Amino acid sequence: MSAPSLPYLPDLETIDPSLDLRAEIERLRRERNAVILAHYYQEPEIQDLADFVGDSLQLSQAAAKTPADVIAFCGVHFMAETAKILNPGKRVVIPDLDAGCSLADRCPADAFGEWLKNYPDHKVVSYINCSAGVKAHSDIICTSSNAVRVVESFPRDQKLVFAPDRHLGRWVMRQTGRDMVLWPGFCIVHEQFTALRVAQLKARHPGARIIVHPECDATVSRMADFVGSTAALLKYVGTEPAMSFIVGTEAGILHQMHKLRPEAELIPIPADSGCNCALCPYMKLNSIEKLYLALRDLQPEILLDEDLRRRALGPVERMLALG
Ligand code: 13P
Ligand code: SF4
Repeated sequence: MSAPSLPYLPDLETIDPSLDLRAEIERLRRERNAVILAHYYQEPEIQDLADFVGDSLQLSQAAAKTPADVIAFCGVHFMAETAKILNPGKRVVIPDLDAGCSLADRCPADAFGEWLKNYPDHKVVSYINCSAGVKAHSDIICTSSNAVRVVESFPRDQKLVFAPDRHLGRWVMRQTGRDMVLWPGFCIVHEQFTALRVAQLKARHPGARIIVHPECDATVSRMADFVGSTAALLKYVGTEPAMSFIVGTEAGILHQMHKLRPEAELIPIPADSGCNCALCPYMKLNSIEKLYLALRDLQPEILLDEDLRRRALGPVERMLALG
């Protein structure tokens, strides 16, 4: 009997220390006809060598239209999986396969399917931060950029379930004036921001604009001057004349904000966990070394059962059609 094959683990010791990793990534990108997509929460050095940096909506739009043969997805698993759902014929690699997401991980597809049986007359709107299995149970997918538009695309009398982020769901309910049944998920990074911390920062920086991601708790988002996706927060910093911004999202976004407004003061809201940082531990699993290995070895690769991929595709395509 042959031994079961082991999962690919990036072995950093196989990297020749004399290599210029940026030059090697550039060479491999050309040789493989690869595109490097990176989320705003990636390390600055990854953002700077990516072909495209964006929020989850922009990244799925980029993945949907790339002519590349290989997609090296520097983000978390559900993002790379969405790229694969859209591109069954392409190889999709991610620097670290363990780059998960607390929202996706705490909404298992089987349990979600069972829970939905309680709501047979509801349509299901799922945030893109979920597995292909949960997407397959959904009528339509949304991101934080288009969640309000997606919900408003249903007639007002249509009953809705929203999963898996209860905070984003509540924020959409406030924006649309609609009621929805919410799956009780949350992001471990955004849930760390508290109204007390925001109030302390505002007292110290009275002229600052408070801008937060809708994954924050309502007590925080109610205090904000602006609530939006990472791309929307970036745009706000780029267009608002204010000189100081209190930022309530993962600190990776500060890199692009700083490039856009080098003269502005950017004040990240610290997490309440004691570590005083607001970094997504999953996003930060990726590194330039692992990106090099992913392009060199074309591993770890996102693989999906074809029947599941087809069932997950419809809800994603419905979202993309809405724009
Ligand atoms: P965006 O939709 O703003 O990219 O957010 C994704 C995410 O994971 C936020 O934590
Ligand atoms: Fe998931 Fe939160 Fe990390 Fe975004 S920041 S990938 S929602 S755990």
